[in-house]
Amino acid sequence: MTHTRFVALSRHLPTGRIEPDLFTLTTKELPRLRDGQLLLRPLAFSVDATLRGQLTGNDGYFLPQIPVGAAVTGLAVSEVTASRHPGHQPGDRVVSQAEWADLSIWPPHGTWLEPAPVDPRIRRPSRALGVFGLLGGVTAHTGIIEAGQVGAGESVVVSAAAGNVGSLAGQIATIRGARVLGLAGSERKRRILTEDLGFDAALDYRAADLDERIRAWAPQGPDLYFDSVGGEISRTVMATMRRPARIVVCGLISTYDDDTAWTVDITPVYGNGLTLQGYTPLQFPDALPAALDHLIDWVENGRLIPLETERHGLEALPGAISGLFRGENIGKMIVTMS
Ligand SMILES: NC(=O)c1ccc[n+]([C@@H]2O[C@H](COP(=O)([O-])OP(=O)(O)OC[C@H]3O[C@@H](n4cnc5c(N)ncnc54)[C@H](OP(=O)(O)O)[C@@H]3O)[C@@H](O)[C@H]2O)c1
Repeated sequence: MTHTRFVALSRHLPTGRIEPDLFTLTTKELPRLRDGQLLLRPLAFSVDATLRGQLTGNDGYFLPQIPVGAAVTGLAVSEVTASRHPGHQPGDRVVSQAEWADLSIWPPHGTWLEPAPVDPRIRRPSRALGVFGLLGGVTAHTGIIEAGQVGAGESVVVSAAAGNVGSLAGQIATIRGARVLGLAGSERKRRILTEDLGFDAALDYRAADLDERIRAWAPQGPDLYFDSVGGEISRTVMATMRRPARIVVCGLISTYDDDTAWTVDITPVYGNGLTLQGYTPLQFPDALPAALDHLIDWVENGRLIPLETERHGLEALPGAISGLFRGENIGKMIVTMS
């Protein structure tokens, strides 16, 4: 009989900040594998803001709720240790949803993605979740190039700019020849953006005169706003933009903890004649293989710098997801296993 440790959800949290005690580390017995199932040993877990909406207990989110007492699930890179699935053999490395556990049976509760083999060009497992991951580099690439259609000489503002998607989106916009202004919450993050990642400028989004600083940087108004935070910050940015300008909405992390989540004030969209577009990389299925090729090439050639904040072991997962909402990460928040 095989047992595994796993991270369980202790209670639902409709609103408010995630604290690490929202989760408990516990053990369970694993049932025998059935046809179509895989036994996975996760090597690295992706810590993603999208999890917040699965912890509220309120249906209506685009992903299913995690039941109280059940294992938390998320994207992971895993090694297949046993298989009754025709497409995967023991020893394969796959990206899939997995329980936050030492051992996880696929498919876990609420699966929305088939397991995909890790591209053999990707040697470090965490990179299959970060710079080469669907919710990392691939989101940034399709967001800037397909949704944003960023061109040379344009002025681009990126929020959560030192995070996973933002740090890559800003660099990809510079590769396209744009000037990029990043918004980030600490002096250290802003220095990394301008000194290491090639951003033209970086600002503290908490500054009372944020709008004036953006106007000083782009007197005609930015051409594109790549937004991962939403809320008041985005309203301020949008008010500095003048037609014709575009907003690509990647995420709204500043709103996920309150019950006004998903509410966007569109006054500046109307008043300033802006185009507001929500997107996911899955809207551009034909562009995904080329996006991965570009990302691999840019990283190999040093044109794109992937950043990761790595924590270690199952015990680190509750603190890692809590820390994501406190700005503790630079680049991709990742939890690796031995
Ligand atoms: N559309 C898609 O398909 C897609 C795919 C992946 C991710 N997303 C979304 O993209 C966003 C970024 O995801 P990610 O994985 O790249 O996370 P991330 O940017 O690596 O991490 C989140 C960052 O957001 C900032 N932040 C946290 N709370 C904030 C608040 N209340 N106000 C302002 N900034 C805040 C923090 O940086 P500071 O220190 O700078 O505050 C934090 O480091 C999320 O909203 C996520 O849901 C969307």
